[in-house]
Amino acid sequence: MKKLWWHDAVVYQIYPRSFADSNNDGEGDFAGITSRLEHVSKLGADAVWFSPFYKSPNQDGGYDVSDPREVDARFGNLSDFKKMKLRADQLGLKVVVDLVPNHFSDQHVWFQAALQANPGSKQRSRFHFYDGRGENGELPPNNWQSIFGGSSWTRVMEPDGKLGQWYLHLFDSTQPDLNWNNPEVNEDFEKTIKFWLDLGISGFRIDVAHGLAKDEIYQDHPDPAGLTAAMRLDITDFDPQYRKALLTNIPFFDNEGVHQIYRGWRKLLDSYPGDQFFVAEAWVYPSNRAARYVRSDELHQIFNFDFLTVAWDADSIKVAIDRTLDELGAVQAPPTWVLCNHDCPRVVTRLGGGSYGLAKARALALLTHALPGNVYIYQGEELGLEDAPVAAEHRQDPIYYRTNGTQLGRDGVRVPIPWEGDEPPFGFSEQNSWLPLPANWQDLSVAKQQTDPSSVLRMYQEMLKIRKSHPGLGGTHQVNWVAAPQGVVRFTREPDFELIANTTSAEVVVQTAKSLLLSSQPDVTIVAEKLVLPANSTVWLTN
Ligand code: NOJ
Repeated sequence: MKKLWWHDAVVYQIYPRSFADSNNDGEGDFAGITSRLEHVSKLGADAVWFSPFYKSPNQDGGYDVSDPREVDARFGNLSDFKKMKLRADQLGLKVVVDLVPNHFSDQHVWFQAALQANPGSKQRSRFHFYDGRGENGELPPNNWQSIFGGSSWTRVMEPDGKLGQWYLHLFDSTQPDLNWNNPEVNEDFEKTIKFWLDLGISGFRIDVAHGLAKDEIYQDHPDPAGLTAAMRLDITDFDPQYRKALLTNIPFFDNEGVHQIYRGWRKLLDSYPGDQFFVAEAWVYPSNRAARYVRSDELHQIFNFDFLTVAWDADSIKVAIDRTLDELGAVQAPPTWVLCNHDCPRVVTRLGGGSYGLAKARALALLTHALPGNVYIYQGEELGLEDAPVAAEHRQDPIYYRTNGTQLGRDGVRVPIPWEGDEPPFGFSEQNSWLPLPANWQDLSVAKQQTDPSSVLRMYQEMLKIRKSHPGLGGTHQVNWVAAPQGVVRFTREPDFELIANTTSAEVVVQTAKSLLLSSQPDVTIVAEKLVLPANSTVWLTN
């Protein structure tokens, strides 16, 4: 098989609102991104994936799109996007954009027209409008819960001024789900795909890729609250058997109907010259369901969420790696490795925070970047940032509001990037930032870390440089496990590469004739073929 760039790429995720602000309104924009894009090429990434920057009332961080073929004014305009693209071309970075097909914003012209139209109309058939249950339709059509909390149904006022039908929204009530049984929906999305391809983009990340086809609507779920809880990453005291049972059968996720859509999109993409790709955001369960999305006539990559949640523990890591390589290998799709994104806690935070969390995150980064396939880096991961504390009055995530503050939501991972200087907002903007940057991020800025050879940033730069140049790294060829003490991950990759990771909280000593290529901690030594590996550290070795 001929190797294509998206078989082993490093993709850097930019959350546009939080990257760099050029006009000092406190929110990131394309001019800001263009001015700071060199950071990404200097890091050594191959591509940049942009979370949505389309016209949007921004009720869910831009994932509530009111026009998918227009740039939202908060980020500039289409010409600013084109300037950014030009800069990306100069820097040798490919551009990947988000596609949000599960829902539109309630401000999209289609939904506004649906509200004005009558039940049963063509306008309503683009969404999931249903009559309610109960004597006067006062009860929602089913008991499904929104992933953001509360009911997944909202009742509308009909044009005659009376309460009437209900519409489905798996997320916020401002995000009505589209009805993919209506061919008009696909026609519109194909138009959007062509629009961005014609502007020269190299790939699409598909939001909620497992959600477009829904089961029988008039059927209640036996435990809707349990299902919502089972889907949360922050609830760990859930009975594993029950969780498994719930996640294996979700009426609105991972239904067969989604695959037909992706086969059509694949044909469309293949009709374009070049080697563009699709990556699916699909939380599917059990993990072997993922391979179905990347069969040879469907999408190209699927985010590896199994790995994103893996414990810092050698056995769990080995199982997750083997499972990924086996399952995706069976359909010849390249793996992806993701440690964090704009929806999850930052990796340092997930691994316990503070200096221990940071040591583990550095070690996990080195382990991840030695694996075959594609790696995704979420902005700020290369700085070792933690989730920032966000005061109640600054919170914006609909999850926070829909759960009455019982779930804090995702604002902490979306706090802007510290670039330089001694005071917040550290060069993100001149004086404003939509979420405040913590004052103690002073030493974490890009400028500060660039001057410190022991910083996370310098480690990432070195790691990506070696990943690109070492013949044993990158690519899609397998890893070869080597026997190792309890708590230690050890593998080789041909030619001439070896990795050893110590996931325990004690120093370990390992025999090796190789020499050090890179380590996640400074205090690693090899004396007389004895490698001393501190707690929570990883090394790359070569002959
Ligand atoms: C997944 C996106 O990553 C997330 O940010 C968003 O809230 C939901 N999908 C709904 O679009």
